[in-house]
Parts: sequence; structure tokens; C-alpha cells
Amino acid sequence: MTRVIIPTLHSDQVRAFKLRNPDGTRAKRKAIRCGRRWGKTTYGEAEATNGAVKRLSIGWFAPDYKKLAEAYNEILTILKPVRFSSSKTEGLIRTTTGGRIDFWTLEDENAGRSRKYHKVIIDEGAFTKTPNMLGIWEKAIEPTLLDYGGSATVLSNTNGNDPDNFMYAICNDPKWGFVQYHAPSRNNPLIPERLIGEDEATYLLRREEVFAKLRREKHPLVFQQEYEAEFVDWSGVAFFSIDKMLIGGESVAVPPNCDSVFAVIDSATKTGKANDGTAVVYFAVNKSNVAAPLVILDWDVIQIEGDLLITWLPTVLANLEALSRKTGARAGSLGAFIEDKDSGQILLQAAARKGLSAIPIPGSLTALGKDERAITVSDHVYQGKVKISADAFNKTMTFKETTRNHLTSQVTGFRIGDKDAAKRADDLLDCFTYGVAIALGNADGF
Ligand SMILES: Nc1ncnc2c1ncn2[C@@H]1O[C@H](COP(=O)(O)OP(=O)(O)OP(=O)(O)O)[C@@H](O)[C@H]1O
Ligand SMILES: [Mg+2]
Repeated sequence: MTRVIIPTLHSDQVRAFKLRNPDGTRAKRKAIRCGRRWGKTTYGEAEATNGAVKRLSIGWFAPDYKKLAEAYNEILTILKPVRFSSSKTEGLIRTTTGGRIDFWTLEDENAGRSRKYHKVIIDEGAFTKTPNMLGIWEKAIEPTLLDYGGSATVLSNTNGNDPDNFMYAICNDPKWGFVQYHAPSRNNPLIPERLIGEDEATYLLRREEVFAKLRREKHPLVFQQEYEAEFVDWSGVAFFSIDKMLIGGESVAVPPNCDSVFAVIDSATKTGKANDGTAVVYFAVNKSNVAAPLVILDWDVIQIEGDLLITWLPTVLANLEALSRKTGARAGSLGAFIEDKDSGQILLQAAARKGLSAIPIPGSLTALGKDERAITVSDHVYQGKVKISADAFNKTMTFKETTRNHLTSQVTGFRIGDKDAAKRADDLLDCFTYGVAIALGNADGF
């Protein structure tokens, strides 16, 4: 006998499942706005697999291929006992019961077009990269529900308070016809995971402490957005404050000893803009120094063309070597971390041929958008774990006819949800956020 084990909804997911319209009828368009780790994806998977077993046609939508592939794998595992056919490349699972799930990325403007679905599930609806998600919904996805009078469930946490953002719009503008369920992360009674043998009272106490710690240690607006799923107004908020990188208002001395030094390079032309800057930031890691586990030692920004970058890389490595000696780095220099795309990719390949110490920045970091990346490293900065040395703090240089400390001006000038972000120089900012994530990890709190 085949038995499909669909995830049993936790108590708050059951509340979302039973959501009703103001007139008391069952909601057919749900916007499930919940904090990180509430169980949004699991909820969607339960709805999708349950539907597929019951012969329904389901459309599953996610912002990018990576998120889609994760859901595909989990859904296929659940449906294994009734799998009729499946293809990851085609994004399709059919069940022996006659159901099917199509998987679509929202990078595709035609996602869902010409199909018909009993149920549509959109995961991470606030994080679509296209600026036109409302258009995709209206022109491509919503029409798929017409034939069967289908239902739609959108699951996401929030991403600013931008009226053009899909999740924001469907939660705030009744014209889209969605009913909203809003809950914080702590409403998932299953997180953090219970330890083996841990009794109820001890677990509940530990759980309280986990959430209290999050509230204490997160940038307050990050906590509100990520864990309370509130629509945070980021406009005008200086996200990275320089005060957190100083001690008593002063930059710090170059550490006399540390674990290691490394550099992060953000190379030009990745946005296709000619004469973009190429930036480098140098860091010292000293995990045992709780007051300053990461220190920015120096930075530079230059304007050179692609091919010349490879002749410049040895200079960066020589600087690192000198900084390694100056800081008594126990493990020495780790080398230069470089984004594995566009001109960075060419630089990495050239470095590999020449035996230079260049390391690709992990794809999990480069795949994130600028805002998401800033949020993932914000705890470390907020908690004062990143300090700036006097050399890096007092340095100014002329770049594109402007003389100033480009590192501190880019870092403190960064704004979440900045619509003009593409026009701003942010090469040093990218080096900064990558460097913090590489050294201190990209924490999600649990
Ligand atoms: N009904 C459930 N039964 C068992 N475990 C669950 C259930 N719902 C959620 N979980 C667990 O809680 C954790 C978070 O779930 P999930 O990944 O679905 O949350 P999410 O809200 O999508 O998180 P994120 O914001 O990171 O995308 C996972 O470990 C998941 O297995
Ligand atoms: Mg999820």
C-alpha cells in the first residue's frame, strides 16, 4: 500500500489554513505574511502535496531557481510513494493519482501562462527580482485560476514598505482580493528544534531565551521585519552606523596579533557600466578578541579595465602579506575573495592559472540581493563586532573627482530599499558586507 506522509500543520499553520473572508466564507486568496522560520515553505508544501494526491493541478512559484529547486526536492520526497513521473529540469511532478505540480521561477515573465490550475502557491512573494511582479500576477498567474475557480496562497515575510512590492500590495490594497494572515516567527511552536531528551519545561525556557536573545541582538528594525513580519519603513534609516564600528568614538589600533588577514575584491564592470570602480577591503580576523573579532585594516578603490585587473591582483596580495606581518596573523594571509561572476570570474580564472591566492565568494552570498545581504550581516555590525582601524578610518582618496573616505561614506550611506541604488557607487559596500559574512558568518538567528 502506498502511503504519502504530508507534513502535519502546526497550530498556527492550522489557523492560517482556516482563514476566512470578512463574509465568513473560506478564503481563496491568502497572503500568509509570517516571520522567518514560521513554516511558510512547509505550509505551502503541505497544501501542494495534499492537492496533488487529490488529483489537482498545482502551480508552484518562487523567485529564483535555487528556491524552486529546494521546494521541488522536498515535495518530490513527500510524493515519492505516488510519483508517476518527475523532471527537475522541466519543473514537473505527476502523481499516479492524476495530480501534477508545475514549478515556475518568477524570473520568467510568462510564468504559468497558458496553464490552468486548481491551486497556485507563491513562496517568498516579497522577494521577486522582477520589478513587475504585480504585472506577472495579473497577466500570467491569475488567469490560470479562471478555468477551475482555483485558489492562491502567497507565503512570504516582508521586505520594506514599498507599494510596488507584490507582498506589500496584496496585504495592503484590497483591490487584489487577498485575505491576510499575519504572525511572528515565534508562533512556530517547533522552533528551535527540541534537543534529544529535553523535557517540556526546559525546552520552553530555552525557547523563551532564544527569542529574547534575537530581540536583544538584532538591529531593532531587522527584528521587526524578519521576525515580526512588520512592514518596516527603511527610508532615511542609516543601516550601518559608524558608531558601532568605533570604540568610545575612536577608531581602533591595528591589532598586534590576530588569526588571519584576508581581502575582498569587488571588480568593475559587473553592472555593465563602463569605468566602474574596482574596490578592495582588507580585514583582520581575531575570533578570541570579543571586543573586536573583525577589524577593517585598509581599503582602496581604483578605476582600471578588465585585463589589467590580473596585473593588479599581485599588489593586493603583497599588501595582504605586509598586513599579515604587521598584525602577527597566526594563520597568515588567506588570500583575496572575489565574486565568481562577470569580470570577477575572469580574474579568478587568471589567478588560478598563475597560482595566485584568489578564492571565489560562496554562491550562497553572491546569490542574495544587496538588501538581503546587508540584513544577514547586520547583527554583527549592530553588536559592534566589526571595528575600523585608524588607517582605514582616516584614509581619504580621490575617486571620480571626489575626495573623501569612500569606504565609510558608502557603508554609512547605504539604505535598504533604495530605489536609486543602481546609480550609486557601492563597490566598497559590497566588499564590506561580503567580508563580514565571510569572517563572522551569515547568521539567521537560530
Ligand atoms: N508543520 C510542521 N511540521 C514539522 N516541522 C515544521 C512544520 N512547519 C515548519 N516546520 C519546521 O520549521 C522550520 C522552518 O520551516 P520553513 O522552512 O517551512 O519556514 P519558512 O517560514 O519557510 O522559513 P524561511 O523564512 O527561512 O523561508 C523547518 O525546520 C521546518 O521543518
Ligand atoms: Mg521558506
